[in-house]
Amino acid sequence: MRIAVVGTGVIGASWTALFLAHGHEVVATDPAPDAEERLRAALPESDRLTFTADLAEAARRADFAQENGPERPEAKDAIFAVLDEHARPGVVLASSSSGLLPSRIQQACTRHPDRVLVGHPFNPPHLLPLVEVVPGALTSEETVGSAMDFYTTLGKRPIRLRRELPGHVANRLQAALWREAYSLVDQGAATVADIDTAIANGPGLRWALLGPFLNQHLSGGPGGIAHVLEHLGPPMEDWWADLGDPRLTPELTRKIVAGVADELAGADEAALTAARDELLTGLLAAKARTQGLT
Ligand SMILES: NC(=O)c1ccc[n+]([C@@H]2O[C@H](COP(=O)([O-])OP(=O)(O)OC[C@H]3O[C@@H](n4cnc5c(N)ncnc54)[C@H](O)[C@@H]3O)[C@@H](O)[C@H]2O)c1
Repeated sequence: MRIAVVGTGVIGASWTALFLAHGHEVVATDPAPDAEERLRAALPESDRLTFTADLAEAARRADFAQENGPERPEAKDAIFAVLDEHARPGVVLASSSSGLLPSRIQQACTRHPDRVLVGHPFNPPHLLPLVEVVPGALTSEETVGSAMDFYTTLGKRPIRLRRELPGHVANRLQAALWREAYSLVDQGAATVADIDTAIANGPGLRWALLGPFLNQHLSGGPGGIAHVLEHLGPPMEDWWADLGDPRLTPELTRKIVAGVADELAGADEAALTAARDELLTGLLAAKARTQGLT
């Protein structure tokens, strides 16, 4: 297949690496003057990668389009109007948008809005398996099925959302955790470093393997989640009522930024990113060898 990668910044470059690694052709497009140079510098050399500054040409040549332009509705409108006009009927137009609603994105498509959806990856898409597939009001079932199938063939773990929501599902879940983390720092209840230590050495280790619900189920012994909810449900409701509702005031922002700098204490961030990605690759391989994990 030939995939049009529209926008070759952080996410577009990572998708390109994944598509090429699975033997697909990529026609990449981005209006930035140095975009082709940056993209080629980030990837191993490949004769299956072509670049054009002309979005319409990329659309005409595509069997599937993955859009990764700026996260602004008017930018998506301009891109999707061209994709809609020039892509062949039946070619899926997927947006990587982190939070925009697909019904909003498909408004720009007057010809075939039924083949538009959100296919939201997690950064970096060449490593993390999750893709949130979010249909809009006008998206056809056939489009959803094609996108789910396509992402699955790439080794991804797509989930189909039952309803479109700002931020989809996974970013909302992250936002819920960040909300309380920011509130705890705001109140002076914990430092930035302590919160990172707590998650990375506690619940985060289990969440990577089974997710929040199955972990909760397993913590209930033979009674499982029904038992957990019976005896820990009421206190959990009390904690919910007590959770914070922080505001990103300049003071809190300064506290968070300073807390991260303290935690890093001059560490080499490139080395940290490389170590994280290497361990992630090993973890994904170990998960793939283990039955029953989510
Ligand atoms: N960064 C993340 O963690 C992340 C994760 C998942 C999804 N996303 C989503 O992916 C999309 C891209 O995010 P990013 O972080 O790669 O941004 P980025 O700023 O790194 O890249 C955006 C690219 O779009 C290009 N661009 C601008 N106008 C364009 C046009 N008319 N046609 C084609 N390309 C155009 C820019 O030149 C730039 O290279 C956004 O919708 C974002 O919400 C981001």
